Amino acid sequence: MASRSLFLAAMLLVSVAEGALENRRMAYQHRRSVSGLPVPEDTLFAEHSPALHARADCEPADPLNTLTDRLNTLLNSSGAGYVLPLCPGVQYHIQAPILFNAQDQEISTVGYPTDDSRATLVVSGPVANGQGHTTAVDGTCQNCSGVKLRNIQINGTRAGAPPTNGGANIEMGGSNQNQLIEYVHSFDPRSWSCLHIAEGAFTCSNVTVQNNDIGPCGSDAFQQWADGISVSCQNSLVRNNMVNNPTDGGIVLFGAPGTLVENNTIWVETMTLLGGINMVDYDPWNGNYTNTVVRDNTIRGGFATETAEGTETKGVNAEDAIIKIGIAIGPRTWFGDRYLNNVSLSGTVLNNQLTGAFGYGMAISSATNFTVQGNILVGNTSFIGSNGPNCSTTDITPTPAPFVQDETTVTSSSVQDGFQHIPDGDSLTCIMPPDGGDYWPFGGNPSSSGSGTQSSPTSGSSPTSPASGSSGGLSGGAKAGIAIGVILGVAAIAAATYFVRNAAVKRARAAGRRY
Ligand SMILES: *[C@@H]1O[C@H](CO)[C@@H](O)[C@H](O)[C@H]1NC(C)=O
Ligand SMILES: *[C@@H]1O[C@H](CO)[C@@H](O)[C@H](O)[C@H]1NC(C)=O
Ligand SMILES: *[C@@H]1O[C@H](CO)[C@@H](O)[C@H](O)[C@H]1NC(C)=O
Ligand SMILES: *[C@@H]1O[C@H](CO)[C@@H](O)[C@H](O)[C@H]1NC(C)=O
Ligand SMILES: *[C@@H]1O[C@H](CO)[C@@H](O)[C@H](O)[C@H]1NC(C)=O
Ligand SMILES: *[C@@H]1O[C@H](CO)[C@@H](O)[C@H](O)[C@H]1NC(C)=O
Ligand SMILES: *[C@@H]1O[C@H](CO)[C@@H](O)[C@H](O)[C@H]1NC(C)=O
Ligand SMILES: *[C@@H]1O[C@H](CO)[C@@H](O)[C@H](O)[C@H]1NC(C)=O
Ligand SMILES: *[C@@H]1O[C@H](CO)[C@@H](O)[C@H](O)[C@H]1NC(C)=O
Ligand SMILES: *[C@@H]1O[C@H](CO)[C@@H](O)[C@H](O)[C@H]1NC(C)=O
Repeated sequence: MASRSLFLAAMLLVSVAEGALENRRMAYQHRRSVSGLPVPEDTLFAEHSPALHARADCEPADPLNTLTDRLNTLLNSSGAGYVLPLCPGVQYHIQAPILFNAQDQEISTVGYPTDDSRATLVVSGPVANGQGHTTAVDGTCQNCSGVKLRNIQINGTRAGAPPTNGGANIEMGGSNQNQLIEYVHSFDPRSWSCLHIAEGAFTCSNVTVQNNDIGPCGSDAFQQWADGISVSCQNSLVRNNMVNNPTDGGIVLFGAPGTLVENNTIWVETMTLLGGINMVDYDPWNGNYTNTVVRDNTIRGGFATETAEGTETKGVNAEDAIIKIGIAIGPRTWFGDRYLNNVSLSGTVLNNQLTGAFGYGMAISSATNFTVQGNILVGNTSFIGSNGPNCSTTDITPTPAPFVQDETTVTSSSVQDGFQHIPDGDSLTCIMPPDGGDYWPFGGNPSSSGSGTQSSPTSGSSPTSPASGSSGGLSGGAKAGIAIGVILGVAAIAAATYFVRNAAVKRARAAGRRY
C-alpha cells in the first residue's frame, strides 16, 4: 500500500511538472513571438531541470549551502524512529558528518534501490595538513541503538590523495546495540576504513552488516592503506558482503568477541591487499576472540589479467596484485613482537575458501585456543612474493606457502592438517609481490554486485601515522640487500611454487576435496 501511494505521488509530481513545463513553453513561445529574439531551447531546460526532478517524498540536495545543516537538523529534531529519506540518483555533497541522533532512526534512499541509483553522500568538507572531514555518517551517539543505514552510497573522495586523520567513511557502533547496515556501497575513504563498527565503552553489541558492496578502500602505497570492514563491536553479524579492492584488511576483526563473519567475498583486482580477513589486533579487546567465528567466506587473491595461450598455466597480472595473507591469525603475523608474548585468543575459523594469488593463504603465529578447520584451496592458486625491503635482516621470513604456522607460539589450538611449520611467523606482510612475470593463475573474479565500475584511487605520496593494522615499519635494508633478496626470492618462488602446489594438491586429494 505504502509503495503504491508513493508511486501515485510520484506520478502526480511528474504530471504537475509537465504541466508547468507546458505553461512555461507557451509563455516562452508567446514572448518570443513578441520580442522576435531567438533563444536556444536548451536554456529553458537547463533553468528548470532541478524543478522537474524535485520530489515531495525525499529531502533534496539543493540548496547546497544549507544541505549539511538541513540533514542534521532533520535528524536532531525528529526524534526516535525518524527515517531520513534521500532521493534516488542524487549526489549529496556534505561538508561535515551526518549524525544519527536518536534510537531507531534510519537513513536510506526512497524505494530502497540496490544499484547505482542509490543516493550518494559525497564527503566534501575541507582537508588541510592531514586533518579534516573524513566521515559521511556517524551512528555512535549516546542514544543510537537500533539505528539503520540502508541502501545508500558513500563516496569518500580520497581520489589518490594521502590519507587524512579521522574516522572511517561510516562510523557505527559505539555504546549501542542492534544497529543495521545493509545494501550500502562505501568506497574511496579519505581515512583508514570504508566502514567501522566501534566498541564504544565495550557495550556495543549485535550490529548487523549485511549485503553491502565495499571498496575500493585506500591505496596499496606504503601506509596509505585502508580496511574494507573493521569490526570491534561484540556479538555482531557480518554476512553476504562483497569487498572489492581494499588494501589493509578486507574484513578486520578487532577481537569483537561473539561476532559471526560468514559468506563474505573479498577480492583484489587492481591493488595488493595486506590481509583478507584479520584476527591479529591485540587492541582494544586484549586479543579476545572468544566465540568469534569466521566461516564459509571466499577470499580471492589476484588472477592473471591476460588470457592463457596454449598450455600456459600462469600469466602476468597488470597490477602485480596479490593478497599477502588470506587469513591472518595472531598479532605476530602482523606486528612482529610489538605485543611481546600476547596472543589472539579463542577464535574459530572454519570452511573458508581461498583462490588466486597469495603470499600466504593462511598464517598463524601467537594464538591460543583457536580452532582452524576445513579451510581449503579452490580453483587455481599461486603462493608468490619475496622478501621486501622492510623484512627483517635477522629474522627468517618464510617462503610463500598455502598454510603456515609458527608452532612455537601457537598453543592449545586445533589446527587442520597441512599447515607447514615455520620457525618465525613475525611481520609477514613485509613480503612484496613479484614485479611482473608469469606467476598469477588463470581464473575469474566475481562480477561487482549491482553497482557499476568504480575508479580506484591512484597512489599519493607522503605517509601519515599508521592506522590499525599497519605493518611494523621495520628499518629497510641496503639497496644491495634488496637486489639480492629479490633475485633469491624470484628463484625461490619458482621452486617453491612447484613444490608447494604439489604438496597442496596431495593434501587436497588426501582430504578428498576438489582442488
Ligand atoms: C541540530 O543540527 C543543527 C545543524 O547542524 C545544529 O545547528 C543544531 O545545533 C543541532 N541541534 C541540536 C539540538 O543538536
Ligand atoms: C535518549 O532517548 C530517550 C527516549 O527517546 C530520551 O528520553 C533521552 O533524553 C535521550 N537521551 C539523550 C542523551 O539524548
Ligand atoms: C539484533 O539486531 C537486529 C537488528 O539489526 C534485530 O533484528 C535483532 O532482533 C537483534 N537481536 C537481538 C538478540 O537483540
Ligand atoms: C552469500 O552472499 C551472496 C552475496 O551477497 C548472496 O548473493 C548469497 O545469497 C549469499 N548466500 C547465502 C546462503 O546467504
Ligand atoms: C572474552 O570476552 C568474553 C565475552 O565478552 C568474556 O566472557 C570473557 O571473559 C573474555 N575473556 C577474557 C580472557 O578476557
Ligand atoms: C576456547 O574457545 C572457545 C570458543 O571461543 C570458548 O568457548 C572457550 O571458553 C575457550 N576456552 C578457554 C579456556 O578460554
Ligand atoms: C603483553 O604481555 C606482556 C607480558 O607478557 C605485558 O607485559 C604487556 O604489557 C602486554 N601488553 C602489550 C600491549 O604488549
Ligand atoms: C585454471 O587454470 C587453467 C589454465 O591453467 C584454466 O584452463 C582453468 O579454467 C582455470 N580454472 C579455473 C577454475 O579458473
Ligand atoms: C566521487 O566523488 C568525486 C568528487 O565529486 C568524483 O570526482 C568521483 O567521480 C566520484 N566517484 C564515483 C565513483 O562516483
Ligand atoms: C619500507 O619502510 C619505509 C619507512 O620505514 C617506507 O618509506 C617504505 O616505503 C617501505 N617500503 C616498502 C616497500 O614497503
